[in-house]
Order: sequence, then C-alpha cells, then structure tokens
Amino acid sequence: MNWFTRFLTSSLGQKFIMSLTGIFLMLFLIVHLLGNLQLLKDDGGEAFNSYAYFMTHNPLIKTVSYTLYASILLHAIQGILLWQRNKAARGNVRYAVQHTRSSERPARNMAWIGIIIFIFLVLHMYQFWFQMHWGKVPFVEYDSLDHPVKDLYTLVAASYENIGYVVFYVVCMVVVAAHLWHGFWSSLQTLGINHRKYNGLIHFIGAAYAIGVPFLFAVIPVWMYVF
Ligand code: HEM
Repeated sequence: MNWFTRFLTSSLGQKFIMSLTGIFLMLFLIVHLLGNLQLLKDDGGEAFNSYAYFMTHNPLIKTVSYTLYASILLHAIQGILLWQRNKAARGNVRYAVQHTRSSERPARNMAWIGIIIFIFLVLHMYQFWFQMHWGKVPFVEYDSLDHPVKDLYTLVAASYENIGYVVFYVVCMVVVAAHLWHGFWSSLQTLGINHRKYNGLIHFIGAAYAIGVPFLFAVIPVWMYVF
C-alpha cells in the first residue's frame, strides 16, 4: 500500500474526502436551486425548459454531472465507512466509558440523516432526472428557440399538484437542512479553515446556508401547488 492509498483509507483521509465531496455537493445545491427557481416564472416553463436543455446538452456541464454522481456515491460510501469505523472504536471502549460523548452525537446523527437523504435522492432522481433522460417526456417549442426541448416543466408541475409529493419534499428539505447545519461547519473544520477571528462569521454563513437553501427549495413545490 503506498502513502496515498494509506492516507485515503485512514480516518483522516476518509474525513478529507467527505469534506471535499461535501463542499462540491453544497456548491451544486446553489446552482441547482438557482436553476429550479425558474420553475416559479409565469412563462409556461420556457425559462426552466431552456435551462434544463442547456444543462443536459453542454459538454462541460455533462462532465461536471459525472463528477457530481461520483461525489454523491463517494460521500455516501465514505460516510458509512467512517460511521462503522467510529462504531467499532466506540465498541472497544464500551466497558470503560458508558456514556456517549455529546461531541460524538452529531456525527452519529449525520449518518442516519445522510441515509435518509440518500433515499430521497434515489426517489428524486427517478422522478425527474431518470424521466428527463430515459422517460417519455414530450417535446415543446418556443419562439425564442430554434429547436424543440423536452417539457420537464410540465412533469415537475404535475408532480407538485399532488399534496403528498409537496409534503414529502418539504419534510425532506428539513432533513437536508439538519445535514447541512452540521456538515457546513464540519467540512471546513476538517480542511483546517478555522480562525478565532472569523469563526463567528463562518458559523453565520453556515447557518444562513443550511436554513436558506433548503427553505427556498421547499418554497418551490409549495408555490407550484398553491398558484
Ligand atoms: C423542490 C426542490 C427540487 C426540485 C424542484 C428539483 C428538481 C430537479 C429536476 C427537475 C431534476 C432533473 C434535471 C435534469 O435532469 O436536467 C433534478 C435533478 C437532480 N436533483 Fe433536484 N430538485 C430539487 C431538490 C433537490 C435537492 C434538495 C437535491 C439534493 C439534496 C437534489 C439533487 C438532484 C440531483 C443530484 C440531480 C441530478 C443532477 C444532474 O443530473 O446533473 N435536488 N432535480
């Protein structure tokens, strides 16, 4: 085993991968949110469908998408491995220390919350992403475009006419917020981005991100259901 493999399989290396993939996923969420907010435009889906066409046809974005899928899997797998490693380490000291340290609790909860988010992602990607790529989504034409585009807008709008989906998305966004609340700070800590002078600001940005992003995601289905 060379030093690189040794590092990646060490608990420090695993945490390092978790934090890098986590930061990449947090950046993706901002781009995804900005794109999805176009669903709220009262233009019959023109802006959103044009955006979805661009995102699925631009070669550079397609490459970033493959990095995204790999990051989701790596983040999930490393998270589970780290969780098991910590559990095994706790098992070794179970007889010496009976209570759980409060600093360990968030990390343990993160694993459970992460598993719920992974299940959400599988359902979510089947509902929209799979249908967009391999389902029978009809095409629509707009005067501003010289080619037809898939009408993903109507697919999303039809889903959010169902109150069950709306509630499901809102509840899942609360879970996403809980994951980001701890994840934002934790990923920066692992990379050593930590300074007494700026920690207050980092905490503030983390809290604003963890609440603001899932809140705006949750607004989308509620808005589309109501209006
Ligand atoms: C109301 C909230 C959301 C809406 C309306 C929404 C909508 C969509 C749609 C329409 C697609 C298919 C896009 C395409 O294939 O071009 C998609 C893909 C995706 N969504 Fe969401 N999404 C929401 C929230 C989320 C959240 C919170 C996450 C992550 C936790 C997420 C992760 C993803 C991923 C990973 C993909 C695949 C992206 C790609 O292929 O590049 N989405 N979403």
